[in-house]
Amino acid sequence: MKIGIFDSGIGGLSVLHEAYHALPDQEFIFYADTEHVPYGLRTPAEITGFAKEITQFLLDKGAEAIVVACNTATSVAIRELRRIYDIPILGMEPAVKPAVEGTEDKRIMVIATPVTIREDKLRDLLHRVDEHHRVDLLAMPRLVEFAEREEFDSKEVDDYIREQFSSFDRSRYCALVLGCTHFNYFKPSLRGYFGEDTLLIDGNRGTVRHLAEVLGLGMNNDYNILWSDTAKYFFSGQEITDEKTLNYLHRLHLRLEKVRDI
Ligand code: DGL
Repeated sequence: MKIGIFDSGIGGLSVLHEAYHALPDQEFIFYADTEHVPYGLRTPAEITGFAKEITQFLLDKGAEAIVVACNTATSVAIRELRRIYDIPILGMEPAVKPAVEGTEDKRIMVIATPVTIREDKLRDLLHRVDEHHRVDLLAMPRLVEFAEREEFDSKEVDDYIREQFSSFDRSRYCALVLGCTHFNYFKPSLRGYFGEDTLLIDGNRGTVRHLAEVLGLGMNNDYNILWSDTAKYFFSGQEITDEKTLNYLHRLHLRLEKVRDI
């Protein structure tokens, strides 16, 4: 089956990466909207416009299902996409539910883009699952910027993380929810800041499991591939075929593999 996966940028690769592990027999078309990243600082109307164009593009390339591998685009555009297109369209939302259900008393921090934090979709989710008001929200838009320039382990990244969390007492948090796909790249720094006792929770495995269920695909438990020759990569409509950019994507997959179980 041909599955289209898109994001504003390289964050969505973390979902593709997980899909490679679990669904090695499927064909993927990955689309990063590198001309318009970051979505997290744009208006809902702009983001919805991009999401519609990309979905149409992926359908034209033969996609039979779409994964919006972007919490930001999901929060503003998923309803509209599902209204227009009659194929399975899966979105992503911060994995608050597993965080609340999997922990008992301490607080939970959700980090995401400013749009995701502001939108009703997250409010509604909290209203449904955060019964005891344990969740705090924090926007971290600069992590998207750092990721897009492949800066994952610098002093600037660590300083930014420290500054952003400075008004919270980190010892009170049992879980950190990565509510933006770009944030996966920073697991080492986030783990370093919060220590070993805080769970880092992203929605990637859950999203891929859900995808397999919806499409009726058997999951492979942990097929170990970093690269699939059947996958195609597009940056804002341009197919990636040059060696330099393919090497860059390969490096990102290696990074994602390295941080996968942190
Ligand atoms: N990776 C996206 C997300 O999950 C959006 C990042 C951005 O473009 O601001 O929210």
